[in-house]
Amino acid sequence: MNKIIRISVQAGITVLSIAFIGISAVAQESPTYSRDVAPILQEKCATCHNPEGIGPMPLLNYAQVKPFATLIKDRTSKRIMPPWHLDPTVGIQQFKNDASLSDAQIATIGAWVDAGAPEGNPADLPAPIEFPSGAEWQLADQLGPPDMIIRSTPYDVIANGQDQWWTPNVPFEGLDKERWLKAAEFKPSYPLGKKVVHHGHAVLIPDNREEGGRRQVALARYGVGKSWEVYPEGTGMRVPSSGRIDWNLHYFPVGAEGPGDVVEVGLWFYPEDEQPELETIGEAMFRVDGLDGMARGQDIVIPPHGYQVLQGTHVLQSPAMIHSYRPHLHMRGRVMTMEAIFPDGRKEVLSQVDKYNHNWQVSYIYADETKPILPTGTVLQFTSVFDNTADNPINPDPEQWVVFGRRGVDEMSHAWLGITYLNEEQYQQAMAERRASQETLQLGQ
Ligand code: HEC
Repeated sequence: MNKIIRISVQAGITVLSIAFIGISAVAQESPTYSRDVAPILQEKCATCHNPEGIGPMPLLNYAQVKPFATLIKDRTSKRIMPPWHLDPTVGIQQFKNDASLSDAQIATIGAWVDAGAPEGNPADLPAPIEFPSGAEWQLADQLGPPDMIIRSTPYDVIANGQDQWWTPNVPFEGLDKERWLKAAEFKPSYPLGKKVVHHGHAVLIPDNREEGGRRQVALARYGVGKSWEVYPEGTGMRVPSSGRIDWNLHYFPVGAEGPGDVVEVGLWFYPEDEQPELETIGEAMFRVDGLDGMARGQDIVIPPHGYQVLQGTHVLQSPAMIHSYRPHLHMRGRVMTMEAIFPDGRKEVLSQVDKYNHNWQVSYIYADETKPILPTGTVLQFTSVFDNTADNPINPDPEQWVVFGRRGVDEMSHAWLGITYLNEEQYQQAMAERRASQETLQLGQ
C-alpha cells in the first residue's frame, strides 16, 4: 500500500482515486498461516507430511512450515504437490480420489508466501485432526476390516543399492468356494515398507484352469500413490477358491533397512450368495509402443539431451468401461495421453498426465458418472513423451542413451487401465443409465 501512495503522490492529479484503490487493497488483507493456509495443509498435505508419513518433512505447524514456504509455493503452483499430475485443462476431471488443490487454494498459498508468510493469530487455527496411520487399512472406514488378508514372505530390506525384486510364490488358501471381489488394498509394512516398496503385484494363479481358461487373476496392483481399488457397484472380479499367489515386489533402497519386511493385501468380497452383474478383469496393461507382438517397449531409444514420442493403439473388440487410468513410465517419462477415437470418427482426449514423475504411480479413478463407456471398435490411442534433457528435474544423467528395461534408469511405456469388458446388452444398458443420470443432472440445475 505504501508503494501505491508514494506513486500517487508523484502523479499528483490522480492522488484521490489511487488512494482509494490503496484503501480497498488494505481491506483484503493478506492470508495468514493460522487462518488460511493451515486448513489447506491439514486437508491436502498432512496425511503424508507428518513425522511418520512418506513426505520428507512434516508440515503440521507454523515452525515446520515457515522454512519451506517458498518451496511450497513453487511445488503447489506447478501442481507437482500434492501428487496429482493430471492436466486439469483437458479430458475428464471428476475422480473418486482427487487429491489436487483448487485454483483458489493455490492462489491463497501463493499470496501468503508473497506477503512474507505471516503466522497470523494462532486462535484462528483449525482444530487438529487425527490422520489415519499408515499401519491401518485405508478402506476400513468405508468397508470395515478386510474379509481376508494375504501376505508375502519376509524380505530383508537393504539400505543402499540398485533396484531389488522379491518374487515369492505363496499358496492361496482359505476360501471354500469361488467368490466375487469387491475391493482390494495393497499394504506395505509401516513405516518402512511404505518408503521402500516402489510398486508390486499380487496375482493369483488358479489351481484349476477353469473353463474360459483364466490363467491369472490380478488381485491387487500397487504403486506409490495407488494402493487400493474399489470396483463400481455391481462390478466384481471372480476369484477362484484355490491356487498360488505370485508376488512381484519392486523394492527401491532409500537408505533405510530392516529385516523380515512383509506386504499384505486385504480383500473385500461381495456377500457369499451375491453375484455382481458385471465381471471385471481389474487393471490390464496397454502397451504404448509401435511394436505390437514384440517384447514390450523395445522401440524405446532416447538419445542424450533428446526427446522421444511413442504411440500405441488398441482396438476394442467389445464394448468396455474404464474405471481407472495409471500411466507407467520411468524417469524420462513426462507425458502420457489417452484418447478415444470412436467408430464414427470422433476423437476425444479422455485423460492426460502432463507432469508425470516416476516417484509416483498415481491411479486416476474415474467417478461413476464420468467413467468412459466405449463401444466396440473404439480405438484407444496412447501417446508417451520422454524427456532426456537437463530440463527434466529427475533425469539422473542426460548424457546417457536410454532404452527399455526394468530399472528406474531404463524406460518403460505402458498404461494400466482398470477395465470391464461388456457385451452389447450390458453396453446398451450402461449407456441408457448414463443418459438418464445426465438428464437428472440437467433437470437439477
Ligand atoms: C501422498 C503423499 C503426499 C501428499 C498428499 C503431499 N506430499 Fe509433498 N511430498 C511427498 C513426498 C514423498 C515427497 C518427496 C518426493 C517427491 O518430491 O516426489 C514430497 C515432496 C514435497 C516437497 C519438496 C520437498 C523438497 O525438499 O524437495 C514439498 C515442498 C511438498 N512436498 C509440499 C507438499 C504440500 C504443500 C502438500 C499439500 C498441498 C503436499 N506436499 C502433499 C508426499 C506427499
